[in-house]
Amino acid sequence: MSTTNRQWLLKERPLSLVGPEHFKLVESALPEPDLAAGQVLLKTLMLSFEPAMRGWLDDVPSYLPPVGIGEPMRAPGVCQVIRSDNPQLPEGTLVQCMANWQEYSVGDPSAASSPRALREGTSPNLALGVFGGTSLTAYFGLLEVSQPQAGETVLVSGAAGATGSVVAQIARIKGCKVIGIAGGPQKCAWLKDDCKLDEVIDYKSEDLDSRLRELCPQGVDVFFDNVGGDTLQTALNHMAEYGRIVLCGCISNYNDATPPPGPNNLNLVISRRLRIQGFVMMDYMAQAGKAMKELSGWVKAGEIIWREDVQKGFENIPATLQRLYTGANEGKQLLKVADPQ
Ligand SMILES: NC(=O)c1ccc[n+]([C@@H]2O[C@H](COP(=O)([O-])OP(=O)(O)OC[C@H]3O[C@@H](n4cnc5c(N)ncnc54)[C@H](OP(=O)(O)O)[C@@H]3O)[C@@H](O)[C@H]2O)c1
Repeated sequence: MSTTNRQWLLKERPLSLVGPEHFKLVESALPEPDLAAGQVLLKTLMLSFEPAMRGWLDDVPSYLPPVGIGEPMRAPGVCQVIRSDNPQLPEGTLVQCMANWQEYSVGDPSAASSPRALREGTSPNLALGVFGGTSLTAYFGLLEVSQPQAGETVLVSGAAGATGSVVAQIARIKGCKVIGIAGGPQKCAWLKDDCKLDEVIDYKSEDLDSRLRELCPQGVDVFFDNVGGDTLQTALNHMAEYGRIVLCGCISNYNDATPPPGPNNLNLVISRRLRIQGFVMMDYMAQAGKAMKELSGWVKAGEIIWREDVQKGFENIPATLQRLYTGANEGKQLLKVADPQ
């Protein structure tokens, strides 16, 4: 075991695009901790990057408290138990937890985000990727919140991302006509050729408004929005009567210092009898087992495919977070810190 622990601490709160300059890399001695009953010493193997992490850096109330200046950045990940005072989690066990941006940590079973053992045979990539929180977000947001019916038109923004690509494929499995919005020819080709979406719109090179008019003459029944801002405003113009808009995320303004103006066409919500609903995936965790069983079936049958973007190197952690907001990531953004022992 190493005798040092590296951590990335929050140095200052970003006011625009988050980047390496907002964090400080520190190295400290790793004393042999006295583990209390039930605690485990964890070595970080793989980190997950999520757009919501930008919100944890702002000093505002949210569903999780802000990360404090001088604290290690909060981040979900997969770790390996390297010392244990917990018979449920013996040495060698791979666990999922709030690993944070650090090489070693103490896992406490009494903490809200206590370490949970990975299912036998599940790799860190799969646990954080297609069998992780983004797929559950896609499942509950689409099926529980919007309740799409076969034959309906489903529009998905951020469609080539971890969440959006699973939303789009579930909608396809349910017999919907699926249109994905993504940035760049490679992401759009993957969605059309490999994920088998009906149509794709490259918002970086095409005019979203005219493409939606062309592709959805009867209007959009379900809009699953990961992006917000102008994308939401434009999509609103194309909603069919009694359409549902699922607000999953608004990544286009996560790095803005001041909130952008709201959509100027909300009157359409009234005249077209629309329903707009936000949701937080964690609220559905009681049903996660059932959802994961169905998702696993689709993955094993090849009906849902996925992509992982695995960066490497502890020193590259802050730059990897930035990839989400520039669209550099191709699929679920992960970073490998170490191999299991
Ligand atoms: N409600 C919940 O419980 C919940 C849970 C998890 C995630 N989410 C939300 O789901 C969304 C997707 O998260 P994810 O983890 O799956 O990330 P992701 O989609 O894999 O990665 C983020 C993608 O967002 C797109 N993007 C970034 N900046 C953009 C901009 N200014 N305009 C348009 N698109 C932009 C980029 O794709 P392009 O290259 O195509 O632009 C980028 O690749 C986020 O909004 C996140 O906050 C919500």
